Order: sequence, then structure tokens, then C-alpha cells
Amino acid sequence: MELTPIVAGNWKMHKTPKDGHSFVEKTTNLLLEINHVSVIFAPPFTGLFDIDVQPPFYLAAQNCHWEEQGAYTGEISVAMIRDCSAEYVILGHSERRHVFGETDNWINRKVIAVLAGGLKPILCIGETLDQREAGETDLVLKNQLEQGLAEVESLQNIVIAYEPVWAIGTGVTATINQVESAHESVRGILKEIFPDSNDIHVLYGGSVKPANAEELIQVPGVNGFLIGGASLDVESFTSITRTVETVQKRNL
Ligand code: 13P
Repeated sequence: MELTPIVAGNWKMHKTPKDGHSFVEKTTNLLLEINHVSVIFAPPFTGLFDIDVQPPFYLAAQNCHWEEQGAYTGEISVAMIRDCSAEYVILGHSERRHVFGETDNWINRKVIAVLAGGLKPILCIGETLDQREAGETDLVLKNQLEQGLAEVESLQNIVIAYEPVWAIGTGVTATINQVESAHESVRGILKEIFPDSNDIHVLYGGSVKPANAEELIQVPGVNGFLIGGASLDVESFTSITRTVETVQKRNL
């Protein structure tokens, strides 16, 4: 079955709740015609509260804790996120891994908690420039997938986002060949770990913008985007979403 592409905007630490609400209202009004793409907004936690979106629009959190509740100052549980009507949780983003020291083991606990709570993890993976230059890209992706998905029974409800760390927020996009080859590796690794699972979304992230969206969405194995900088601006986010919609309609 053909997967409906996903365009997800990771706002990172941007936009107050008020700014976020106004952004979502403007964007959804401009994208009324969209019906071949799922569009996800991932505001900071405060922006998830009291915001109402209907399919094909969805909400995601950018992180969560794996425990249900307790003495975890500064953390947010899956139930709290679900209560805000979010359906997805971004996990293992490279900023969480590299700035905040999240380990694959933590990320794995979060993936399990999100699935157990009935939400969908968007598990981010990707190599650093040093790792790519050392020829370790496939090994890094394999380790991150094996460890991040340890003790997960199937790929159902899981989204993977391949985000090469060196392409995040740098304006440097991976080449078409690099993206295609990484996505092929990711699918191969997933097939080894989950031989019986159906195909799943593997998104690309890293300096996606209106100017490169058409080329990137046509790369075999790319089922959508996880966008940082360009997701903060109404015009660029709607433009990328429309491009993905147009390409998808053309391919049907
Ligand atoms: P940029 O699109 O700003 O490179 O960020 C990508 C990203 O980290 C999305 O999660």
C-alpha cells in the first residue's frame, strides 16, 4: 500500500503558544486543499495545550519522559502529551542526543513508553560529519535503530526520520545520492530487525526548504520530511507541503 507522505515541522525552541496558535491557524487555512499529505506541527510543550487540529493536520511533542509520573523535575509524560491531543512524539533528535546527552537506551525507553501510551514515535537517527567521513554511516544507523527499537515488537505506528547531523541547521543538504543510499540502508536494517513488518515512513530531515523539496521528495525511499528552520515560516512551510502534495498526486 502506498504510504501517505508526511511533512512535519519541528519548531524546536521557537514560538510562544500565541504565536504557535496563529501560525497553525494561518497554515491550515492556506492548506485547505491538502489531502495527499499528513502535516504535523511539533511546537514546544507549551504550544501543545489548547490547540485543535483535524486530519490531515496533527500535533507532535518534541520529547517525553518514559515514566508515567513521579519526581522528574522538568519532564513531561506520554499521558500529558496525549491529553493535549498530540499523536506523535519526536524522539532521539540529534539535539537531544548531542546537546543533552540522551543515550540510545533512554531513547529506547521513550519509544516503548510512547507506543505503550498509544502514540507514535518519530525516531530520529543520523550520523555526524566525523562518522560519515570515517565511513561509519551505515554502522551508526544500524546501532541507533537496533538500540532505539530494542524490545519493540513491530514497526507498526513507528516513523523514522533520517537526519544527518551535519545537514541540520547548516544550510547544507545531503546530496540526492547520499539521501537515497542512507534511506536504502535504513530500510535494509529495518527489514533485518523486523522481517515481518510492513513498509514504514522514513522521513528525511536537514536543511529542507522550498528550493530543494521537489528534488528530495522524489528520492526513492523518502516518504516525507522533518523540517526545522523552514517550518517556522508560513510561506516556506506551506510551499514545501504543496510541493509534496503535487508530487504525490502526480505519482498516483
Ligand atoms: P533544519 O531543517 O533547520 O536543518 O532542521 C532539521 C531538523 O533538525 C528537524 O528536526
